Amino acid sequence: MTILDGKSLSNKIKDEVKISVDELQKTKQITPGLAVILVGDDSASSTYVGMKAKACKKAGIYSVVHEIPETISQGEILDIIQRMNENPSLDGILVQLPLPQHIDTTLILEAIHPLKDVDGFHPYNVGRMTLNLDSFVPATPYGVMRIFEEYKIDVKGKNICVIGSSDIVGKPMASLLVNAKATVNVCNSSTKSLKTHTLDADIICIGVGVPFLIKEDMVKDGAIVIDIGINRIQSGKLVGDVDFEAVKSKCSYITPVPGGVGPMTIAMLLKNTVKAANLRETREKHKQKETIC
Ligand code: GUN
Repeated sequence: MTILDGKSLSNKIKDEVKISVDELQKTKQITPGLAVILVGDDSASSTYVGMKAKACKKAGIYSVVHEIPETISQGEILDIIQRMNENPSLDGILVQLPLPQHIDTTLILEAIHPLKDVDGFHPYNVGRMTLNLDSFVPATPYGVMRIFEEYKIDVKGKNICVIGSSDIVGKPMASLLVNAKATVNVCNSSTKSLKTHTLDADIICIGVGVPFLIKEDMVKDGAIVIDIGINRIQSGKLVGDVDFEAVKSKCSYITPVPGGVGPMTIAMLLKNTVKAANLRETREKHKQKETIC
C-alpha cells in the first residue's frame, strides 16, 4: 500500500508556481492578483480563505480578501464583482461557497468574468471543461487528477466510483475522468446499495462530508481510494469520508486526511491564478475592442 502524499506534491507545485510568478514579473512586469469574496462568518469558510491568502502571499501572488457581512444584498455583491472584473490588476476572482440562502449562487458565479474564474465554476468554464477544451478546472478535482499523474496511475479503462455529485467536486471530477476515458459511476445520497457500486470500483473518489462512510467491507482488494472529504469530529480531530485505518490495508494506494487532497486544492488554485495572469493581456485587448465597437 502506498500513501498518496498530497502535502509534498502540493509543495512541489507551489514551488513551480513561485517560479512562474517570478518569471511573469521579470518578463511582463505582472504580479498575479487574486480577489476573494467571503460572505458571512462561517468559521470553516474563514479558515479556508485564510489558508488561500497565506499561500498566495508565499507564492508572490497579490491577494485581497473582501469580508462582507451576511446581510449584504445580491445587488451589492454583483457591484463588487463588476468592479473586480474591470480592475486589470486582479486576474482571479473567487467567491467562497456556500453563500447565504438569500443569495442566488448561480447568478453570482455567472457575473464573474470567465477569464478571471479561477474556481472554474462559471458555466462557460464548466461547459468547456466538459467538452475537454482548455478552461479553468475546479481546484479540487484538478488536484486529484494531478495526484494520479504524479503517481503514474492511469485511469483509462478503470471502473471509477465517484461518490458525491456536487457542482464543486463530484460533477467536475466525473467529467475529468470521463475525458480521461475512465468508466465512471456517480453515486449520491439517493443511491441504493452504495456498497454494490464501491465493490465494483478499481478507484473510489469520495467527497460527501460523512466521516468514515467507506468501511473495509466496501472496498475491493487492491483498489485505489481518494478521500476528498474533510470533517472535524467531536474529539476535534480532522478525518475524511473513509475509515482510513480500517481500509488502508486493502488498498494499493490511498490518500490520507489531512495531507492528501486538501493541500492540492490550494496548490491548484494558485496554478489557476497564474494561468489567469497569463491571460491578462488577452483580456485587456478584448476590452479595448469592446470599447472601440
Ligand atoms: N467551498 C468549498 N470548496 C470551495 C472551492 O473550491 N471554491 C470556493 N469558491 N468555495 C468553496
